[in-house]
Amino acid sequence: MAPHLNIVPSMFVLLLLFISASKVQSGAIDVVAKFGAKADGKTDLSKPFLDAWKEACASVTPSTVVIPKGTYLLSKVNLEGPCKAPIEINVQGTIKAPADPGAFKDPNWVRFYSIENFKMSGGGIFDGQGSIAYEKNKDPHNRAFRVKLPVNIRFDFVTNALIQDITSKDSKLFHVNVFACKNITLERFTVEAPADSPNTDGIHMGKSDGVNIIGCEIKTGDDCISIGDGTKNLDIKDITCGPGHGISIGSLGKYPNEEPVEGVKVTNCTITNTSNGARIKTWPGESPGIVSDVHFEDIIVNNVSSPILIDQKYCPWSKCKINEESKVKLSNISFKNIRGTSALPEAVKFICSGSSPCQNVELADIDIKHTGPEPATSQCLNVKPKTSGKLNPTPCSSPVPKTLSATA
Ligand SMILES: *[C@@H]1O[C@H](CO)[C@@H](O)[C@H](O)[C@H]1NC(C)=O
Ligand SMILES: *[C@@H]1O[C@H](CO)[C@@H](O)[C@H](O)[C@H]1NC(C)=O
Ligand SMILES: *[C@@H]1O[C@H](CO)[C@@H](O)[C@H](O)[C@H]1NC(C)=O
Ligand SMILES: *[C@@H]1O[C@H](CO)[C@@H](O)[C@H](O)[C@H]1NC(C)=O
Ligand SMILES: *[C@@H]1O[C@H](CO)[C@@H](O)[C@H](O)[C@H]1NC(C)=O
Repeated sequence: MAPHLNIVPSMFVLLLLFISASKVQSGAIDVVAKFGAKADGKTDLSKPFLDAWKEACASVTPSTVVIPKGTYLLSKVNLEGPCKAPIEINVQGTIKAPADPGAFKDPNWVRFYSIENFKMSGGGIFDGQGSIAYEKNKDPHNRAFRVKLPVNIRFDFVTNALIQDITSKDSKLFHVNVFACKNITLERFTVEAPADSPNTDGIHMGKSDGVNIIGCEIKTGDDCISIGDGTKNLDIKDITCGPGHGISIGSLGKYPNEEPVEGVKVTNCTITNTSNGARIKTWPGESPGIVSDVHFEDIIVNNVSSPILIDQKYCPWSKCKINEESKVKLSNISFKNIRGTSALPEAVKFICSGSSPCQNVELADIDIKHTGPEPATSQCLNVKPKTSGKLNPTPCSSPVPKTLSATA
């Protein structure tokens, strides 16, 4: 064969090699192929996962830990940085936790700690297998048991991160806990747990700046999203929530030295069959705090018990100083374009503190109908909301009951 005739096939081979190489992520480290993980649903993924993480984290070029399709058992894992270069986890499989709550000595299952430039994606599922824990956790006073229940996924001190196309299922406690993070985005993140699963908040955060929650679907037994002290510049949009307890700021004001919650935007969300819609809750008496610059806009509520709620007499299981006033100051809060139905007549309820009344609360374009025969009502205590647009129910049209009933 003449030499020049060979050039075409070898170029073809090179092209094929190039195409197949470009399909694999840069620096892909496969836990099965390289570290002997077994997708048999019973061999512990812990060591292969950690070994792959350590190799990826030590790499000076970007690298990706790959967990291929299949079902894995994971006892627990603590994935720590700092890493030498951007690091990614591509989870395609389903990772299951031990179902026995007694298998956990501390409240962690999968924990990411001190990492910068992090991404996790791949369509995978973290399954907390919570059903046994739910049964034992139904007693609200069983605190000793609850404090050891693991959160499915924790992000502690994580900066510049994107979590995309991941599902958290049946966590034993909160699904996701974001703590001390900066610039972290959860996008197309799915939460799935039964409506009656206790304390299974979808995404909880605290002491974090620049959290973005976008395009997520959250069905769970507690708050879809709960916002703790020290949250700044939070953006929540395009969320569907329900069943669950809605999107909540708080509870705040129970513990000393809480940091302000400042700059929260919640837009374009649909909330269905939940106990609350847009809520801010603070404890009476107890400790001071600040909530300001909070805006709920373009929200649809379907069959929500309390669609719009500021509750500064938050008092679960009557365990509070109900006759004292909350020391948490609320200001610059708006509810705009909120429509749909409420399952209770009290659709818009502002119970503000007598010692620091809510400042600059705005209601605009509200149209909420009660699903029952009575019209929807609105109650106000220690607040004079600014109003505009069409408003149903008429703001502050109903008296506030003398004894404020406890809410959970
Ligand atoms: C925030 O994090 C993303 C990664 O999710 C990154 O692309 C972006 O540059 C970061 N923004 C800032 C201001 O650092
Ligand atoms: C609102 O959110 C839904 C998802 O719930 C999304 O499909 C839609 O595109 C969003 N609309 C706008 C205007 O962003
Ligand atoms: C809301 O509850 C009704 C009645 O139980 C049910 O038919 C509907 O599917 C629920 N919607 C969602 C989004 O969960
Ligand atoms: C409203 O939601 C409750 C649960 O909060 C559910 O039991 C009821 O069936 C729902 N009703 C409708 C009409 O969807
Ligand atoms: C509330 O907004 C006003 C301007 O609209 C601003 O002057 C004030 O500082 C804000 N209050 C807080 C506590 O952020």
